[in-house]
Amino acid sequence: MKIRTAVFPVAGWGTRFLPATKAVPKELLPVVDRPVIQYAIEEAIASGVERVILVTSEHKRSIEDHFDSATDLEAVLEARGDIEHLRAVRAVADMVHLVTVRQKEQLGLGHAVLMARDAVGREPFAVVLPDDLIVGRSPALGELIGAYEKSSASVVALMEVAADQTRRYGIVEPDPTLPSSDGGRTIPLRGLVEKPEPKDAPSNLAIVGRYVLSPKIFEKLERTKHGAGGEIQLTDAIQALAADQPVVGFKFSGTRYDVGAPEGWLRANLDLALDHPTYGAALRTSLTGHAQDRK
Ligand code: UTP
Repeated sequence: MKIRTAVFPVAGWGTRFLPATKAVPKELLPVVDRPVIQYAIEEAIASGVERVILVTSEHKRSIEDHFDSATDLEAVLEARGDIEHLRAVRAVADMVHLVTVRQKEQLGLGHAVLMARDAVGREPFAVVLPDDLIVGRSPALGELIGAYEKSSASVVALMEVAADQTRRYGIVEPDPTLPSSDGGRTIPLRGLVEKPEPKDAPSNLAIVGRYVLSPKIFEKLERTKHGAGGEIQLTDAIQALAADQPVVGFKFSGTRYDVGAPEGWLRANLDLALDHPTYGAALRTSLTGHAQDRK
């Protein structure tokens, strides 16, 4: 079945980026010239997604505003003849039709996805975490959808991490009895565990915020108890799903930045700005000058 719906859970508190995120949702912090969430929406659209469901909270209303039309602003830009910015503002409003549902209490990512149940309906769907900004030649979600179409299994995005980093991620346990495919990029899974200590980790393959899920996940989420950090974990529900239906991991090809915290956000800004056709050359010159001044 075609994947036409993507759920974007954006109701989290964003504590890792305080105080920047006290009044501004982390999803609206810019990376170079666009807010974080816009990269993720553009990726979903490039992957064939037609419906976007935002799981939001009372503190995140401005995310919806970003994708709405801005009549007063457009009138000002038009009167000034600022066609470049007028086009950019209108393009965002025309980008996507958003459906929003509220997560009234921040009980975890799994709980946020469960809030989208009625809006999704009984069809397989994607989940995209905008905090994970993935840059590459092909859209990461599109690669996962390709793996879903070939395998008919639910799919989680995977990347390799250093062995001592496992406690920061959901980690998967590959199924050694089943063959991997796509040159080792699609890996059948036996289990998933949220934030294991390195000594307990079943592999060094970490789950990144892109998923394609069977609607059966909602039944599993309803029964999922509070797990790591006291939250209802999506990883625990996918672990339960794996007992009934095939689940595979897919090693996507792009570079992932955790833009939900300062370090990853700074790296993303630097890398994308250095590659940017307008800002790249000037930034390189200024960085070279800066390095020489500090010698
Ligand atoms: P994070 O683990 O990044 O948590 O959530 P957070 O609360 O947003 O940020 P920190 O850790 O306090 O800095 C992963 C994703 O799940 C969403 C977040 O918005 C993010 O996209 N989420 C998390 C919810 O929508 N609801 C929740 O209750 C928790």
